[in-house]
Parts: sequence; structure tokens; C-alpha cells
Amino acid sequence: MKRVAILISGGGSNMVALARSMTGEHPARPVLVLSNDAEAGGLTRATALGIPVAAVDHRPFRGDRAAFEAALLAPLLAARPDVICLAGFMRILTPGFTQRFAGRMLNIHPSLLPKYPGLHTHQRALDAGDDQAGCTVHEVIADLDAGPILGQARVPVLSGDDADSLAARVLVQEHRLYPAVLRRFVDGDRTPVMM
Ligand code: GAR
Repeated sequence: MKRVAILISGGGSNMVALARSMTGEHPARPVLVLSNDAEAGGLTRATALGIPVAAVDHRPFRGDRAAFEAALLAPLLAARPDVICLAGFMRILTPGFTQRFAGRMLNIHPSLLPKYPGLHTHQRALDAGDDQAGCTVHEVIADLDAGPILGQARVPVLSGDDADSLAARVLVQEHRLYPAVLRRFVDGDRTPVMM
């Protein structure tokens, strides 16, 4: 069995989709849900799913990302993950951290990368007049929201959309895409999943 750690900052709906997918014949299991916020709603949801949880508050480490990451490493390494999934984890990671897990850390981003790395992706897609939006799962490298693309799902932008309605439509696809990519990835298959 491959061991999967999932890093979250918020509600954890992608974490739930990933965790629910890892049952039965699936060759991986969730071994840890780790958050930078002890109040993250996803921690309660993970506990309800029977997954061990941990939290390392980033705020006492303000200005020292490396020290925050050193604290994050303790529970993470103790869980001995084969794969790390960032799922709405909203802290920027240093190259030291991303390189340590090179080739085995994934991220989901709510845009069709390479368009719109960073924040406010849905508003930026609307402002640009795009007729499609979507989400991307990629391998994590030192550069933010870059790295080999492992899958993308597209949705139409509809007239009357605002950032919230578009985000909700994309999120439904995130919950399909991320488990599909992870399933391939744990088998060593990096062929992109296109939806
Ligand atoms: C998701 O839409 C995810 O793509 C996004 O945050 C949301 C987390 O929702 N991630 C980023 O913006 C990363 N920069 P969730 O906690 O319900 O999975």
C-alpha cells in the first residue's frame, strides 16, 4: 500500500474526495491530514473519516518559512508518506521543502495552468473574458503553481457567472480530477488525465 499524506488549510473538500477514493482495490491509503490551521474544517472531516490529523500553526513562524516547514516536517515524516497531496494548502513552500519531496508531491490549482498561477484565479478568468475555466493537478516544483501537468478538467464559463458560481462549478470537477490523477500516479503513470 502506498501511504498518502494530504495537506490542507480549509474546508478540505478535495481531501475528502481523495480520502473517499482510497478504499477497496485502490493501492493507496490516507495516513495523515496535516494543516497549518488547527481550526481548519477539514481536520474535523478527516477525523470523522478515521484519518490521523495534525496541525502546525504557521503564525508563530511569521517571516521564517524554513522554521515553519521544519515544524511541519515532524508529523509529516513520522507518517512516512510515499505521496504528498496539497489540497487547498495555502502556504508557499520553500525550494528546500519542495525539492525534498520532488516527484512525489502533487497540488491541485483552480485554473487551467499555465494560466493564472497564484490567487483569484476565477475572477481573473472572468476578467479576461475566457469561455473556459477549470482546474489542474501538477507535480510540485520550486516555482509556484508550476511543474509537470498530471491532469486538467475544463468547465464552460456561463454568462452571468461571478467568481463564486464559477468556483463552485470548477470545484465539482476538482473532486473528480484529483482522485483520478492520484489513482494513476500511485501506479507510476504520469500520463495526464484530461476531462
Ligand atoms: C480548491 O478550490 C483548491 O483548488 C484551491 O483551494 C480550494 C480548497 O478547497 N487551491 C488553491 O487555491 C491553491 N493555491 P477545499 O479545502 O474544499 O479542498
